[in-house]
Amino acid sequence: MQEVANLTAATAEEAENLRIKYLSKKGIINDLMGEFRTVPAELKKEVGMKINELKQATQEKITALKDMAQSQEQAGDDLDLTRTPYPIKLGTRHPLTIVKNEIVDIFSRLGFTLAEGPEVEDDWHVYSSMNFADDHPARDMQDTFFIEAHPDIILRSHTSSVQARTMELQKPPIRALCPGRVYRNEAISARAHCFFHQVEGLYVDKSVSFTDLKQVLLLFAQEMFGPDTKIRLRPSYFPFTEPSAEMDISCHLCGGKGCSFCKHTGWVEILGCGMVDPAVLEANGIDSKEYTGYAFGMGIERITNLKYQVKDLRMFSENDKRFLDEFTAAN
Ligand code: DAH
Repeated sequence: MQEVANLTAATAEEAENLRIKYLSKKGIINDLMGEFRTVPAELKKEVGMKINELKQATQEKITALKDMAQSQEQAGDDLDLTRTPYPIKLGTRHPLTIVKNEIVDIFSRLGFTLAEGPEVEDDWHVYSSMNFADDHPARDMQDTFFIEAHPDIILRSHTSSVQARTMELQKPPIRALCPGRVYRNEAISARAHCFFHQVEGLYVDKSVSFTDLKQVLLLFAQEMFGPDTKIRLRPSYFPFTEPSAEMDISCHLCGGKGCSFCKHTGWVEILGCGMVDPAVLEANGIDSKEYTGYAFGMGIERITNLKYQVKDLRMFSENDKRFLDEFTAAN
């Protein structure tokens, strides 16, 4: 019995040889059966049982050895140990990361440094300190993800919350850029998602003017979309800026002539901006008589769509390798 338990076989062929040695007609167990005749009658029952047990254990053991050897041989078939590991195929950066890095790069050349804030925020940083009235519709359940037991704790719905976080920590002059993820309670479709990414910019110093804002945004647009790009500012409204504007760039696909991409207007919208509302400076401990500032915010998905014409927003979060492989990072 012990001998059977200790049997080993490295290959299916070795296991087959064991089967022949123990279980075939001329095998050891059959020989034992042959000697059974000579066993005295009173021991026949006990010895017979023992031989049967031994035969069964040997069959089981050899079948198990055969199965194991076969599966090991199959696994070995897929491994080519002689293959060279070079060239190692590197992954690609995510398109949103490529575009984010490009935006960060442009603004860091203008003296902006990175700032961060949490994605799980409180009402103060996302709304109240940003001059949203208590009944402002953006606080509505439809837009903001609330935590039921703690209505004050929310998922930030824009990166403007980092303006407040930055002003809390730094004294002017402040030149901060904050890329990050934001959340909104929207049904997921090709054109909307419950999370996306923004970049927020904030500049606060003595005598910062709207002209400074316009100049910086023109430079950004031309660096990002080419030196012939034109910008257009349209009056708009945001609670945290006064005056506020939305910025369009000349459509870089048709050069401003009009095409289906820009809906034949020659312009496409890319960001919101304005002069920081004095109420926002004051709420964040900065003297609005001494300092002024500008701010802007843009969607990274939006800029990426303009650069690469991604038709469906869901592609950004599906991790489809065929999509991701289309983007190669320069940085
Ligand atoms: N927070 C705005 C949004 O989520 C974007 C924005 C607009 C940010 C104007 C700004 C700004 O800093 O000045 O749509």
